[in-house]
Amino acid sequence: MYTDIVIDHFQNPRNVGEITDPDGVGEAGNPVCGDMIKITIKVEDGRLADVKFKTFGCGAAVASGSIGTEMVKGRSVEEAMALTNSRVAEELGGLPPEKLHCSNLAADGIHGAIQDYFSRQGK
Ligand code: FES
Repeated sequence: MYTDIVIDHFQNPRNVGEITDPDGVGEAGNPVCGDMIKITIKVEDGRLADVKFKTFGCGAAVASGSIGTEMVKGRSVEEAMALTNSRVAEELGGLPPEKLHCSNLAADGIHGAIQDYFSRQGK
């Protein structure tokens, strides 16, 4: 049902936690199941120097948070903004159709954190 990539990121999630004194915070809720994600970011020289996530979500949400944060870590804020829900699911090698909505949390939370960063910068 799940790919080896999903299982790996669920069992050994990367970037779990919360950055103290973050430059941006994003929270996203999943309208399908009511689960949540919180993303915190640290920005240096226009790049995401650090990204962390916490989720009250299912295993697919944990795997999506893990791989989604890996995909944007070290990238420019513009590149990170371009991350899509479908790219997260693709990078996981796909998700079962009934779990596809779980992959939305990661990109939505990352976008929210960057928007918060922009608004703190007065942009
Ligand atoms: Fe809610 Fe997966 S069932 S995020």
